[in-house]
Amino acid sequence: MSATSLEPASTRVAAERSLFSASQSRVERLRDRFHQIRKFTNALFVGLEPEDCVVQSMPDVSPTKWHLAHTTWFFETFILKRFVPGYRAEIPEYAYLFNSYYNAAGEMHRRDLRGLISRPTLSEAQRYRASIDSHIDDLLSNLDESLLDEIEPILVLGTHHEQQHQELLVTDIKHVFAQNPLYPVFRAGRTRHSVRAEERTTKECLPSQFIDFEETPSAIGHDGDGFAYDNEGPRHRALVPAFSLATRPVTNGEYIAFVEDNGYQRPEFWLSLGWITVNEQRWDAPLYWTKRDGTWWNFTLSGFRSVDESEPVTHISYFEADAYANWAGTRLPTEFEWERAALSCPIEGNFVETELLHPAAAESAVSAEKSGKRLHQMFGDVWEWTRSAYSPYPGYRAAPGALGEYNGKFMCNQYVLRGGSCATSRTHIRRTYRNFFQPEKRWQFTGIRLARDAQ
Ligand SMILES: [Fe+2]
Repeated sequence: MSATSLEPASTRVAAERSLFSASQSRVERLRDRFHQIRKFTNALFVGLEPEDCVVQSMPDVSPTKWHLAHTTWFFETFILKRFVPGYRAEIPEYAYLFNSYYNAAGEMHRRDLRGLISRPTLSEAQRYRASIDSHIDDLLSNLDESLLDEIEPILVLGTHHEQQHQELLVTDIKHVFAQNPLYPVFRAGRTRHSVRAEERTTKECLPSQFIDFEETPSAIGHDGDGFAYDNEGPRHRALVPAFSLATRPVTNGEYIAFVEDNGYQRPEFWLSLGWITVNEQRWDAPLYWTKRDGTWWNFTLSGFRSVDESEPVTHISYFEADAYANWAGTRLPTEFEWERAALSCPIEGNFVETELLHPAAAESAVSAEKSGKRLHQMFGDVWEWTRSAYSPYPGYRAAPGALGEYNGKFMCNQYVLRGGSCATSRTHIRRTYRNFFQPEKRWQFTGIRLARDAQ
């Protein structure tokens, strides 16, 4: 409502003041959120040495330093260069070095060669972060309402983008450290790594059961309330036939039974491409697992330790998840089944904020009895592979321009994962969130939840 000349001056001033403070608080909220996310990134790499931050252990992994600079490049490219009149980049070459895949934003350095870039140094990358942060602060301090409307969605997208890179920073440094025979510790929070195999106590594990869901037309996709990526829409109705879903993810102990039943040597469980991959890569267990003196050990972010059979299995490719499900006489859920089932689940769990940086065992059988038969660990711990190909929803169109390249152009040869992991931020995940990876990838915290057709 606007103030009219018929209103007393004091009312007009009060209305203007309240408009001003409403707009100011929106800016304040935006600025607070921006700094909160940026600070969390800075906190994540505390403890790493400069030498740790430049290694690229495989093409999928980016050096920590690159993550720090690329997330900064995002704000510089899509906000400062666009909205600050006369903005001049301090180091124009960063546009080339730290563009990841946005063709519309210009040429870029080769992804698989990021580990060869010793300059800028880590401290220069940190200076770049600080400088862009202060430019963003300046911009937010002098915004009019219409510009705020334009900038806000991009700035919010930038914070979610940075949260994705926070997760990658964690999984990438795990891969880097795993190459090192000294098995460096990233976070010493968990002490179980030092327990000897013969001393280990695998926690009592919640038994896995199946919950039945009736056939129903379901609303799939984001409802537009709050932030979502474009690939979560348009929201539409889909008929989800009756199905059953496991109450918790598959554990290490259950997966060991598959391994020891020669699951990796029996082609009958594997997709053709999966069987080729297993043989080419000589996989015989999840990534980071090694057998020593008859016992499975795994590398974790808190060091090398024996495999805890009660924890959800992780670092599993789609091929392995699918083979395990076949061996178990089940299948993987579709993403629509998963989303329908998640409707009743609170978004809580073992996220990056717990600082475990490792999947945790489901709650004990005793407390499960009290809480009844329900879904556990739908969020956090491990990303759950679905059998759904990553494709556009009906009516999806990627936005024009560089930001339209964010999701749409990857809708080919990948599978959807749901629910987030122990490296995902709690404020980043949603019931409609669609993560996606190629079926052979396994350096993320990926795991398995089984489904069945209606019996
Ligand atoms: Fe990115």
